[in-house]
Amino acid sequence: MRPAIRIGAFGLAVGLVVPWGQPAAWSADRVGAKDKNPRAIAQGRELFTHEWVPHDDRSHGGDGLGPVYNERSCVGCHHQGPKGAGGGSAGTNIEIITPTGTGSNPQDAPGSFFYYAFSFNYGPNGFSYRIGDPAGPTARRPNAGAPNLAELARIHPGFRDAPAVVLHRYGNDADYRVWREWVLGRHGAIALRSSQRNPAPLFGVGLIDAIPDAALEAAARRRHPGFPQVKGRVGRLADGRVGRFGWKAQVATLREFVLSAAAVELGLEVPGHAQAADPRIPPLKAPGLDLNLAECDALAAFVGSLSPPVVAPAANPRDEKARKAGKALFKSIGCAACHVEKLGDVEGLYSDLLLHAMSPELGDTPSYGAFLAGAAAQPVNPPGDRPAERTGLAREDEWRTPPLWGLRDSAPYLHDGRAQTLDEAIALHGGEASAAARRYRQLPPRDQAQLQMFLRSLAAPEVPLR
Ligand code: HEC
Ligand code: HEC
Repeated sequence: MRPAIRIGAFGLAVGLVVPWGQPAAWSADRVGAKDKNPRAIAQGRELFTHEWVPHDDRSHGGDGLGPVYNERSCVGCHHQGPKGAGGGSAGTNIEIITPTGTGSNPQDAPGSFFYYAFSFNYGPNGFSYRIGDPAGPTARRPNAGAPNLAELARIHPGFRDAPAVVLHRYGNDADYRVWREWVLGRHGAIALRSSQRNPAPLFGVGLIDAIPDAALEAAARRRHPGFPQVKGRVGRLADGRVGRFGWKAQVATLREFVLSAAAVELGLEVPGHAQAADPRIPPLKAPGLDLNLAECDALAAFVGSLSPPVVAPAANPRDEKARKAGKALFKSIGCAACHVEKLGDVEGLYSDLLLHAMSPELGDTPSYGAFLAGAAAQPVNPPGDRPAERTGLAREDEWRTPPLWGLRDSAPYLHDGRAQTLDEAIALHGGEASAAARRYRQLPPRDQAQLQMFLRSLAAPEVPLR
């Protein structure tokens, strides 16, 4: 049993990170690629593709889809690849809102972000956060321009508990659309920055789940001759666990991600994860579970069973040769310092699963929460734990190296899908990756084409939905 902690009236999952188990339960929590029970996988597949409706017959006394949601099914966003379950096109991005300053304090540059000044404070019976961290970067100046919590909570009650929240695309009633437009407008001195996350591909995630933490830690110790600026670090959750899923490496296990996706994206009440709540009617709780534990296990087993991506066969020996040359360039210009071909026992991943500082241009809200229903809330941090900003969670400009396997079938690229092509994605690499990106720019067109041929050989599996 995990400790039941009450956090005021509502729960919150930050960065889709939901609770922690007791340390002993962690390994049991891993789906890995191990659960091969065909019946569970078949049931999980059905749940992955099920189109939920409000008050769905499939629910176990819950309210089905919603009250707020981003899509009706998992496959609605994770639809790429020959039969789905990959990532999503730009139209399936999720939206995150972050309050930003507007300069009512002359020292606050217009558009500066208040969350720099957020400070989390976890007491034994709950937590609160305030604006203006005495130990933080804004300590030296009063934050007179910052709004108070009540003001922020009037816009979205989720801001009580998190510096940024998921703004769901849909609500179960027609008025939600009107309310959503109102939220995105201006609120006196407060403006909201809207940012996006692109659905990540799910192929091979069971293998990623099974990689030992030690492999990530070893990768973080590695140095890269010729590329001294590359210094990956392990994403650490507030509870000390290693994060490896999500664009910010903000989630430790596949199972947690799957359950919190059900709760946050579809508004399903699942064991241990309250459904996303309607921000207009916060006290409204789910009347019961939408998915029971066996169904959650099945869904996680199915997602964990998705075949890893493949290397597509080359059309002819000339292409094969060009790809080989492209792969050699990929290594020699420094791409492989972060996009490592093999991590743990997993071949062909092209990721170290570590966080890298990528440049302010790529920067975005470090963590976000979803406003959840119910009082038996999901704490974002154990009581007495370190404040969020002193944990190893990703900073604004840090991102997890995305695995490049399946790349051919996963456009658009980067965390918000801003790059339509591989060229654009590479050109936007900055920070620790600037040297590699510069070397790519300096390659003659023929070499660039070879490198791209190599990248495009990394394809989604043909038959992912077994
Ligand atoms: C509205 C679109 C949407 C829906 C619906 C959706 N997801 Fe996702 N999924 C995303 C986005 C966006 C991310 C990346 C989020 C991030 O990292 O901040 C993601 C990431 C994931 C990841 C992590 C992959 C990785 O390698 O980091 C898993 C696992 C996942 N989703 C499973 C599911 C499951 C299971 C469902 C159905 C219960 C589901 N998703 C429904 C958009 C969606
Ligand atoms: C310092 C580490 C690092 C180096 C070096 C690096 N990358 Fe990346 N790469 C990343 C990170 C982190 C992202 C995700 C950034 C984001 O989403 O904002 C990324 C994203 C990508 C993507 C988009 C993947 C997707 O699924 O959206 C491609 C393609 C890519 N890199 C290729 C390359 C190539 C080619 C090189 C060499 C020229 C290279 N990278 C060098 C860290 C690195």
